[in-house]
Amino acid sequence: MRAYNFCAGPAALPTAVLEKAQAELLDWHGKGLSIMEMSHRSSDYVAVAEKAEADLRKLMNIPENYKVLFLQGGASLQFSAIPLNLLGKNSKADYIHTGIWSEKALKEAKRYGDINVVEAGTSINGKLAITEQSTWNLSDDAAYVHYADNETIGGLQFAGIPETDKPLVCDFSSSILSAPLDVSKFGLIYAGAQKNIGPAGLTLVIIREDLLDQAKPEIPSILKYSDQAKNGSMVNTPSTYAWYLSGLVFEWLLENGGVDAMHKVNLEKAKLLYGYIDASDFYANPIAEANRSIMNVPFTLAKAELEKQFLKEAEANHLLNLAGHRSVGGMRASIYNAVPLEGVQALVNFMDDFAKRNA
Ligand SMILES: Cc1ncc(COP(=O)(O)O)c(C=O)c1O
Repeated sequence: MRAYNFCAGPAALPTAVLEKAQAELLDWHGKGLSIMEMSHRSSDYVAVAEKAEADLRKLMNIPENYKVLFLQGGASLQFSAIPLNLLGKNSKADYIHTGIWSEKALKEAKRYGDINVVEAGTSINGKLAITEQSTWNLSDDAAYVHYADNETIGGLQFAGIPETDKPLVCDFSSSILSAPLDVSKFGLIYAGAQKNIGPAGLTLVIIREDLLDQAKPEIPSILKYSDQAKNGSMVNTPSTYAWYLSGLVFEWLLENGGVDAMHKVNLEKAKLLYGYIDASDFYANPIAEANRSIMNVPFTLAKAELEKQFLKEAEANHLLNLAGHRSVGGMRASIYNAVPLEGVQALVNFMDDFAKRNA
């Protein structure tokens, strides 16, 4: 049987997608070979790659003046690629700091330019929150403004999109495709695939065309967005299998009502889990309501000494990967698109039973 997987990433994939990949694994569309064994330049593979892009464009309603790049190196390589590409003309940028991932991004950016860090984390009645934009000290001459929509470790998410006349650059690694998004508000969106898109090994970059040509001259061509755009993301051999599998996820999303339908279920899942945690004396979530992530739900137990037992019993109940990030401890349930409502219900049932037995 397949368990419910609450891993933050690499994360759950839709069973239907894995079944399709399994059926096609040895002999892709009667060609007598696996797609993994196919040249990335073959017409068959290029058609798969182009369909994945077209489906993603449909899902996210990506305007025509944006390029979609299928890259490697994870979101972490984008922490360097972004300043190297966008700081060419003006070496200043604003970085909004809300947690561990936005901090990693700004630390890398500091190697390449003059980075203005906006501390936007705060505490409201003992709960973590993101400050009002009116309190931020943004620069007049920044080349771009960077933030992370959803802090995967902290479980802290922006309630809306910041307003700026500068190109807005956002790490959507753990929230892309979870809710409708107005792509036209952004200069650049990036995301590692291994949470809400597909398997690890692929990184998406969606970039407005006018930002393509301001790279620093010393940038490696593999990191240069304009080179990747000109070459269909094939400056070198791309992560072909991850790209193909992500394409199957996009097809699955389209067949299941697209991002709007996912968002509706995601809200239901989040409401169920946060609602249960809030009503319980045994569990607690550290985030202020307005900034609670709908994808990553951290929680603690009233008796921290029971954490190991909680995880062991959860696993025996086919509820996997509920340990919090190693840097913060506690628990975390990641409830991405591929985790069904029934999975969250099973988790809540288990949590309730565990609490009653251990109160
Ligand atoms: C919000 C966010 N940004 C960046 C990363 C780093 O991604 P990668 O491991 O793909 O480099 C992660 C990974 O969990 C993440 O959650």
